[in-house]
Amino acid sequence: MNQPSGASIGTIYGADAPVSGIAYVGGAYMPLAEASIPMVDRGFVRSDATYDVVHVWNGRFFRLDDYVERFWRSMTALRMEIPHSQDEVKAILHQCVRRSGLKDAYVQMTCTRGIPPKGSRDPRACANQFTAFAQPFVWIANEEQRRRGLHVTVSSVQRIPPQSIDPRIKNFHWLDMTMALFEAYERNAEVPVLPDAQGNVTEGPGFNIFALSRGRLVTPDRGMFEGITRRTVIELAEDLQMPVEVRALPAQELARADEIFLTSTAGGIMPVTRLDGAAVGAGTPGRATMALHDLYWRRHDEGWKSTPVAGEAA
Ligand SMILES: Cc1ncc(COP(=O)(O)O)c(C=O)c1O
Repeated sequence: MNQPSGASIGTIYGADAPVSGIAYVGGAYMPLAEASIPMVDRGFVRSDATYDVVHVWNGRFFRLDDYVERFWRSMTALRMEIPHSQDEVKAILHQCVRRSGLKDAYVQMTCTRGIPPKGSRDPRACANQFTAFAQPFVWIANEEQRRRGLHVTVSSVQRIPPQSIDPRIKNFHWLDMTMALFEAYERNAEVPVLPDAQGNVTEGPGFNIFALSRGRLVTPDRGMFEGITRRTVIELAEDLQMPVEVRALPAQELARADEIFLTSTAGGIMPVTRLDGAAVGAGTPGRATMALHDLYWRRHDEGWKSTPVAGEAA
């Protein structure tokens, strides 16, 4: 039999993979580049999985309890169960980070449906699989984009409606977001926000959105994942006495906003300075945006709502 030409699986996914970090799979810790799950796990062949991502900054987990509680809500909603308690999952995440030696990390916990018994396609019969990994901190926006603000487009691709998939369950159904990303690049933008069928904006690939509209911060209340960074911003805005409205955000209102920013575990608070080719406000990161951004990182430096990685000095 002819061997297929090109790299072998080993060189594609093995020790040469462009990833570093530590994974937990099947009860063992290993280099992330060497970690794998079976191809026929329903998580891979049917996107039948949920996950969550918490970050570590300067050796401290940010809001770890909140992230693990959200992961549990997602698993419960998908009727998944794992043979670990929340405390055990936290201990595994601590171990992944400690063993990786990373000070700033992107830490993912995942539950896949698993593999059904031979001859069955019954999701109830699958043993759900818990895996986790820690890798270097991930930024949605690169350094230059964070400094000058992101260029965003409102996509023609609609976000999957909540009636089909509850967006509060963190999931791998990302093809709407991925195709919206391709469209954004074609429009000379860097990231898309996806509207719902009513023309309200929802979210984009890996982030929530806020607008400063008539002196008030507005963030959507429907059709999106309830981000923990979004929750953090709502709390920080209260500290800064900025009024917040959680409600539908029509794309037309977004187009008139004085400021826009995105929020994500992968990068915090990211200014947007162009929307569909036009300047947002003065075309530079806005004052409210930067006040929240600076407070977010100051709170990180102060150790607010954070816990040291086990084995690290407190
Ligand atoms: C679709 C989607 N929306 C919003 C967010 C932001 O959520 P968080 O602030 O908890 O990272 C994410 C995070 O990964 C996401 O995947």
